[in-house]
Amino acid sequence: MEADWSGIVLTRRGRRGIGELFSIIENGIRLTGMPAWGTGTPEGEHASWVLVHFIRRLPSLSDDELVRMEALNPKTSEQWREEEEATVSRRRKGDADGGAAAQA
Ligand code: HEM
Repeated sequence: MEADWSGIVLTRRGRRGIGELFSIIENGIRLTGMPAWGTGTPEGEHASWVLVHFIRRLPSLSDDELVRMEALNPKTSEQWREEEEATVSRRRKGDADGGAAAQA
């Protein structure tokens, strides 16, 4: 995906204006599985515009921004399990609070 400053976003399916992205997010794309996210409220429209601007920014994210975004990703059950195992193994090594004091 590429963005330029004219407000056009190049997606896998072609060039989209920002109004078009807004409309797709609000109304979905019929018969494709892309649902409508609009709620019919001004708050919902605001949220859709925020998403449009977020999508436009994606191609120009810096490496640093990508790392910061990755840190905000929800954890998978696998990641929760690994974290839990790491805490248990720290406790076994004699760190009574599992490292919580050091993190606080
Ligand atoms: C906040 C969440 C989402 C946003 C902002 C979003 C946005 C978009 C946009 C902008 C497109 C058009 C892409 C293009 O022009 O190439 C698209 C296409 C699509 N989306 Fe979403 N989408 C979201 C969530 C979902 C979800 C949850 C599903 C399905 C479970 C979905 C299914 C699809 C599909 C199947 C298409 C392709 C439609 C086609 O054949 O052209 N989307 N989405």
